Amino acid sequence: MRSYTGKTVVVTGAAQGIGRAIADRFAADGAFVVVGDLRDPGDLGANQRWVHLDVTSEESATSFATECGDSVAALINNAGIMFEASITEQTVEQWDMAMAVNLRGPWLMTRALLDLLVADGGGAVVNIGSIEGIATNPLHTAYGASKGGVHGLTTAMAVDLGPMGVRCNAVAPGWIDTALNRGYVDRLPNRDQAVAELAQLHPVGHIGDPADVGAAVAFLASDDARFVSGQVVVVDGARMSKLSLPPSLAPDAD
Ligand SMILES: NC(=O)c1ccc[n+]([C@@H]2O[C@H](COP(=O)([O-])OP(=O)(O)OC[C@H]3O[C@@H](n4cnc5c(N)ncnc54)[C@H](O)[C@@H]3O)[C@@H](O)[C@H]2O)c1
Repeated sequence: MRSYTGKTVVVTGAAQGIGRAIADRFAADGAFVVVGDLRDPGDLGANQRWVHLDVTSEESATSFATECGDSVAALINNAGIMFEASITEQTVEQWDMAMAVNLRGPWLMTRALLDLLVADGGGAVVNIGSIEGIATNPLHTAYGASKGGVHGLTTAMAVDLGPMGVRCNAVAPGWIDTALNRGYVDRLPNRDQAVAELAQLHPVGHIGDPADVGAAVAFLASDDARFVSGQVVVVDGARMSKLSLPPSLAPDAD
């Protein structure tokens, strides 16, 4: 794997959850990590620093770039939001906000940091998409559209930035054990059953951990992936690979 000693890595939305795990992985690999988030996580390690960032704002992205030193080895566009609403109930403002954070954000941040990625002499961008950019849960029109857009943006950026020496890939996580997802499960009256059923959806037998996403991102940003660009790597324990069957036809039916 690439040594990150002396290198700067930027992770957006890294105050908590998946972004935090990605930031911790790069810090453990020797990088100096600039954490861009709306809020100060407050408890970062010695080789991590928070800089205020609103990924929806061109001004914020430009000012953030001035805090990242002379070169950036990897930009991880992780900040994202999700909400549930039917197509008739969701507002135009909600739709625009999902697009602004999830899709405009990675585009703006890549633009703002491009000179620093080129200056690294082999910088990498990794966008965090989602399996919901490929198939969606109900009530997720804005989220699914924005994540499908992230995957398309990844392909297009790989084509345009390749000649500048910058690779671009995406990771599409499945169900990852974050505070957000735990909140969904914990409020169910039949919580334990839901946890068991969730595990059953995954051929590997369990849901994912934020560190699983961090490991895939670390590979894609490393020199081991020097010939990998324009790809969307699904990290979902084979959930998307398993076709659904009606319960009566499932091999494990009673
Ligand atoms: N948790 C999952 O199962 C899962 C699955 C697939 C994809 N994802 C994607 O992974 C990413 C991280 O998800 P998570 O579960 O850790 O989410 P999270 O809500 O726990 O964390 C998101 C972080 O982004 C920050 N953020 C939000 N808006 C921002 C903005 N405008 N500018 C800067 N920072 C902003 C928040 O402050 C927060 O720290 C998202 O892009 C999400 O869509 C998550």
